Amino acid sequence: MNELALERKPSILRELMKNHATASKNVVFIGEGLPHPETIPFSEVSFTLKDGTKKVFTGSELVTAINYLPTQGNPKLVQKLREFMDRFHAPLRWEDRDVIATAGSQDGLSKVIEMSLQKGDAIVVADPVYSGLASNVRPYKAQLISAQYRKNGLDTVEMKDKLTAIWSSRSKDVKIPKILYINPVANNPSGHVISDEQKREIYEIACEFNLLVLEDDPYYFLGFQDELPKSFLSMDTENRVVRFDSFSKIFGGGLRAGWMTGPKEIVRIVEMHMQVSVLHASSLTQAIVLQILEEQGWDGFLDYTKNVKEFYRKRRDQMVALADKYLTGLNNHIFRLWFFT
Ligand SMILES: Cc1ncc(COP(=O)(O)O)c(C=O)c1O
Repeated sequence: MNELALERKPSILRELMKNHATASKNVVFIGEGLPHPETIPFSEVSFTLKDGTKKVFTGSELVTAINYLPTQGNPKLVQKLREFMDRFHAPLRWEDRDVIATAGSQDGLSKVIEMSLQKGDAIVVADPVYSGLASNVRPYKAQLISAQYRKNGLDTVEMKDKLTAIWSSRSKDVKIPKILYINPVANNPSGHVISDEQKREIYEIACEFNLLVLEDDPYYFLGFQDELPKSFLSMDTENRVVRFDSFSKIFGGGLRAGWMTGPKEIVRIVEMHMQVSVLHASSLTQAIVLQILEEQGWDGFLDYTKNVKEFYRKRRDQMVALADKYLTGLNNHIFRLWFFT
């Protein structure tokens, strides 16, 4: 963590909000500045899913959906997200980890970068790297130590060789990197999926060179392989993975709904950052997402994401076919590079 992060202290009012969420009804809170529900202009908020299921928030559900929340998130959603992680990633040792609801994966990612990076630091990345990460670290004048994606995956030999050279030369020109950023499924922009086997190799490299792994995985359910991949989080025996998940690509990007799972201390520092920035991710969005997850159940959620994946698979196939038909002899190598099948 950098100096800025270490200097952060909990916000007293936001800490009080945690008690508010769990307090009994006869506790009167006078310090939090909560607008009184009677002054709110709606009597209900409703939405309808495509299968016709309608949800109406009224009464206390409406209040939860539109009033302030604890920074970590709607407690029921936070619990659901832990179940989600158990169901799909089974992380080891929850007692060392935590989750926090964020306004999308980019929100958590940028906050972790902001609290860990210092000017001129080096970061290990897979090339081509997500432009949102590159833009984020640009003001830090960060040096990107990159390993190339090749046709059969990420060049882990290149990654290890570069790290070995940096550690052994101890040159003043390149700092020892602390962070490995990776977008392992359907990498933006190249579409590459890192195999489970390669993930194990990369995880070993991270352990050997003491790297914090930032696993930015908004496309986890949409990679074109048949089986869901193993995540870095699922293989994390050393509590060095921070995973960023998102509902953007499956429920809608404008909801700004995501979450972060990682070492307790890091989640806490992000929470303290949110306590003084957005306060918490949107209550209404969290209520909607929670409702959808409850409605679908885990099997329904999986079926739903499979359909989304198939939708994109068809469009990918059509696009490749059209590129082959109309662009052959022109610049079709660009398409081949970006849409590995
Ligand atoms: C790799 C990657 N990370 C993060 C994001 C941002 O996702 P979110 O909407 O969850 O912030 C995107 C969106 O395109 C992305 O491709």
